[in-house]
Amino acid sequence: MKQQVVEVLKGVVDLPIDNMTQLLETPPTREQGDVAFPCFQLAKVYRQAPPKIAEDIVSKLDATHLEKNGIKEVVQAGPYVNFFFDRQAYTAKVINTRIDQQLEEVKVGKDKSIVVEYSAPNIAKHFKLYHIRSTMIGQALANVYGALGYQVERINHVGDWGTQFGKLIAAYVKWGNEEKVKADPITELVALYVKFHEEAENDSSLEDEGRAWFKKLEDGDEQAVRLWKWFGEESLKEFNKIYDLLGVEFDHVLGESFYSNKMDDVLAELKEKDLLEESEGALVVSLDEQNIPPCIIQKRDGTSIYATRDIAAALYRGKKFNPEKMLYVVDQRQALHFQQVFSVVEKMGYEFGQSCEHLPFGIMKIEGEVGSTRKGKGVLLDEVLNAAIDKAKYIVEEKNPSLENKDEVAEAIGVGAIVFNDLKHHRTHEIDFKWDEAFNFEGKTGPYVQYTHARMRSLLRRAGSDTFESTPHAVYQSDLAWDIIFAIEQYPQVLVETTKKNDPSQVAKYLLDICQLFNRYYANERFFVEDEAEQQAKLTLAYKAAEILEHGLSMLTIKAPHQI
Ligand code: ARG
Repeated sequence: MKQQVVEVLKGVVDLPIDNMTQLLETPPTREQGDVAFPCFQLAKVYRQAPPKIAEDIVSKLDATHLEKNGIKEVVQAGPYVNFFFDRQAYTAKVINTRIDQQLEEVKVGKDKSIVVEYSAPNIAKHFKLYHIRSTMIGQALANVYGALGYQVERINHVGDWGTQFGKLIAAYVKWGNEEKVKADPITELVALYVKFHEEAENDSSLEDEGRAWFKKLEDGDEQAVRLWKWFGEESLKEFNKIYDLLGVEFDHVLGESFYSNKMDDVLAELKEKDLLEESEGALVVSLDEQNIPPCIIQKRDGTSIYATRDIAAALYRGKKFNPEKMLYVVDQRQALHFQQVFSVVEKMGYEFGQSCEHLPFGIMKIEGEVGSTRKGKGVLLDEVLNAAIDKAKYIVEEKNPSLENKDEVAEAIGVGAIVFNDLKHHRTHEIDFKWDEAFNFEGKTGPYVQYTHARMRSLLRRAGSDTFESTPHAVYQSDLAWDIIFAIEQYPQVLVETTKKNDPSQVAKYLLDICQLFNRYYANERFFVEDEAEQQAKLTLAYKAAEILEHGLSMLTIKAPHQI
């Protein structure tokens, strides 16, 4: 609807379109209109009082142009211009348009590609609770970009290279036990790594051994490579269990090791472009102009580092996919690292350096505790997910003991509670996960949305069909129904906004609104009625809302069972 308002305003108001769109508001009550344009900002430009400007705008708007855009009436109210839409015409359009048709209007990503990097856990380490943030924010963004027509390249940049793996191999060779690793791979590997550091405090030769093993690994030594591969495979098995549970998928699982043989080329190119400097024995790219510390490319001992691998990765992605944007969903602490990496890529003359964007996010706590510690302890994601599923089983059992696929539904609700709780907050906010809050069927939760959706489906089942159509009907004229229609029409724009801000909470909040609007409607109107046309109109409304909820949840990678 905002689009239509912008369409009629653009010949009359002297503001850039984006700016105008941002100013548009939804009035607090329906009597005031469907969309409002505030004139405060124009006051400075026109040197006039906002109400006067609003009045002028109203007088200048062209009646046929308004009608063509579905607007029935425009009024000045103080400093605002308020727009009323032709409910009848709008309803006709909304009510029988399928979601895929709705989305056809916003295929802004057609013929474009985008790279989204997310999750990126480290092998031989546990998948911690906080990893869920990068994993689910990234997956949700990838879904939404996909819905807007982008060719999305989903990348998991697994941490599988670096001197720490030399240490791990050294520890395994010294103290490791194959059976124990096989029984519980990651726990055992973490224990070996911790032991290495404890022992190294009293025995400095261990550090050298670790380095030597990493050198062997880099040189392709048979034993080193075999062990490293084994650790990697075991880790990925664990990660994949979690990804399966979460419904997370990647197009490319390319660990840091993938770039290890591309380091020399990066180095040569930097040298050739005269960007390398020596600093205390290391090779760096100075970033003084950017006002940030230099990016270290090669350490004094000749080994490459994390940043160099990221430069190689950016070059690889930029050249291979020619993307409009390259997104990195990685926690806040790595902000400087990415600034450095992107700056180096730009200095190398690659325009795609400017398309790289780091999307940081706030930390996640659980019942007030931080789910991660440097010591390798901390809350594990699979433990939290399994506890959530157990809790959901109990709830489902209580709510609907005769449900057939109870386990499946409990899994959807348990996982949905955690994921929704993650995604409903603005990406950059800190989250404190509280068990009771996340499972509140009446609060702003995943289970609330899932349950509202299932209830709509059950109304439809009672009516004996699973798709519904209707012609515009008087029931849609009521404010309660109109609000739902209005919201449904907004859906494609919500997805566009989500990509503009790279913030999936836009979708989550929108779904909560739809639920609230529908529940209010249902509480205030008699849903099952005698009159056939009226009944059909009401069912169609529920059907449309259910479809939107299911689609929206799928954007968040949350399942929407039809029966709970
Ligand atoms: N594996 C890293 C970590 O756990 C995150 C990787 C982020 N992505 C990147 N391209 N550097 O800290």
